[in-house]
Amino acid sequence: MTEPTAASQLSVTVAEIYESRFVPSVFAGWARALVDAADVGPGDAVLDVGCGTGIVARTVADRVPGHGWIVGVDISDGMLSVARRLQPDVEWQQGDATRLLYADEAFDVVLSQAMLMFVPAPMDAVREMARVAKEGGTVAVHVWASLSQQRGWGPFHEAIRRHAGPEALDMVSGYWRMGNREAVVKMCTRAGLRVKQASTVERDAVYRSVEQFVTTEIAGTPLEAALDPGALQHIMEDTAAGLTRFQRPDGRLAVPLAGHIVVCRK
Ligand SMILES: C[S@@+](CC[C@H](N)C(=O)[O-])C[C@H]1O[C@@H](n2cnc3c(N)ncnc32)[C@H](O)[C@@H]1O
Repeated sequence: MTEPTAASQLSVTVAEIYESRFVPSVFAGWARALVDAADVGPGDAVLDVGCGTGIVARTVADRVPGHGWIVGVDISDGMLSVARRLQPDVEWQQGDATRLLYADEAFDVVLSQAMLMFVPAPMDAVREMARVAKEGGTVAVHVWASLSQQRGWGPFHEAIRRHAGPEALDMVSGYWRMGNREAVVKMCTRAGLRVKQASTVERDAVYRSVEQFVTTEIAGTPLEAALDPGALQHIMEDTAAGLTRFQRPDGRLAVPLAGHIVVCRK
């Protein structure tokens, strides 16, 4: 998965890669799970914080008949320009999750998928999500589980460490930073929310082949430019050896990816 640590500098090109490669294989399925867990209803005003190319907000627009006002906020103009192209009828706003430009209690449902790990002060972002949710409204947060819980990504990351070194591994490791579910639960509680449900789920991310998995995961990250072809080849070979049990009979690779979904009431 691409690594948007320098989030505000994500170009439209990286955003298009994110949308075409990562959203279908990984993020779209999780967006459906998050929207279902939050139980978004007709007429609900919904905010998607750290919306990226907008898959969560777009999922609400597609799946909730008679939905209300839908807003996606992201720090990256590149991501937002792809979101606007794909779904012009949703409101897309540039903004920082830790300083949301909305009034207190403006939304019935506040959602955030795969964003908190990229915010330097995640507690501030959770507080802001709680602030803009209505009394009795829902805040639902998704984060990836820790690397130790990732049966599929473990062998891939170990191959990167072995053949490209720890600095290379750091370039793709940001995703797992918020992997402690209890820490996320505590943040929500400290923000004044009542945690209704905290679950850890595995969903398969499906790739045509090991090559597609490795190149997709590296595409758009700083590692793409840093890797020499020899190292890439070794990473492919070791990843293939480590992931044989996830290979399907049709040659595709179904890599389990673990994430936490925490659903709260205000
Ligand atoms: C991995 S992407 C997830 C995007 C989207 N939620 C999805 O599920 O596809 C992380 C997103 O968080 C955004 N982001 C990072 N820091 C942010 C901040 N402080 N405020 C708002 N968005 C931020 C990035 O620009 C990026 O679009």
